[in-house]
Amino acid sequence: MDILNELAKIKDENALTAFHKKYLSKTGELTAQLQNLKNLPADQRATEGNRINELKRNVEREFFRKQTALREQAINDQLRADPLVDITIPAINVPQGSLHPITYLIRRVTEICRSMGFLVVDGNEVVTEYENFDAVNVPADHPARDMQDTFWLTNGKLLKTQTSAMQNEILRKHGPVVSAIFPGRCYRNEATDASHEFAFFQCEGMMVGENISIANLIYVMKKILSGVYGKDIDVRLRPGYFPFVEPGFELDASCPFCEGKGCSVCKHSGWIEFCGCGMIHQNVLRQANVDPERYQGFAFGFGLTRMAMMQYAISDIRLLNSGNLEFLRGIKR
Ligand code: DAH
Repeated sequence: MDILNELAKIKDENALTAFHKKYLSKTGELTAQLQNLKNLPADQRATEGNRINELKRNVEREFFRKQTALREQAINDQLRADPLVDITIPAINVPQGSLHPITYLIRRVTEICRSMGFLVVDGNEVVTEYENFDAVNVPADHPARDMQDTFWLTNGKLLKTQTSAMQNEILRKHGPVVSAIFPGRCYRNEATDASHEFAFFQCEGMMVGENISIANLIYVMKKILSGVYGKDIDVRLRPGYFPFVEPGFELDASCPFCEGKGCSVCKHSGWIEFCGCGMIHQNVLRQANVDPERYQGFAFGFGLTRMAMMQYAISDIRLLNSGNLEFLRGIKR
């Protein structure tokens, strides 16, 4: 106890070093006491040994604590004493960057979907012809391929034209019961103008399992849209054709900008065309080894880039890929 008291009174590093030498070093008193055990009568050795070892452990622990405290103290004293460093000056106001509107929307949408238990999958940009087309029920002679020409690589792969290209891999990996959302960049052979780009973003989602129905699809779409726009959004379905769904729909959302009263965004109809969707075609499930007799599900795919353009009234799609800081700074969120 006396040793610990002595340690507690120490106030500087020199004294601490001396303390270490006196008790804990190879020539220190505690070490000597341990060495001396062999001279004690055999029946005292064990109890005495335990006592000294425990004391030594306690002293060492307190020694290290003290050492850390003194070092911190020394650094703080030095910082306070240094006339060149005034830690009380307020920080310089460095202009902050902001998220790209697409990144911001991806985060919002995925956050909403995650809260509903969806897996968020980061899709590949380079995919196989099979994944992009055949696996989603677009065989080689299908006319839908004509509208989705893209950049083909010399190894036969391609830059994906639609996020639907990820469906097969996700179903194989996580199916047959899976809910996933997978935003990603897509590419198409386009002559660019204010509303066409060769690279743009889509966001795809799907839910597969037993007893999944169109009612689930409607619920999820309403949740996503209401979450993004921060108000209740209504949806309506119209029949639509996409090779990978049956039945397939075009989904309209009640216009979030005028609450259905009519504005330039919704062309005074009160509704905006939002996305394609439907019940996943049995062939698509079969391609991923999912039994269509037992499992079914819905899929949807919407244009994230288009969503950003509507949201921030961006009139030229090319600005989004431009890296133009003036444009990015002008976007108010
Ligand atoms: N892949 C379609 C496109 O690029 C969008 C789409 C429509 C995705 C319907 C879907 C869907 O999952 O069910 O135009």
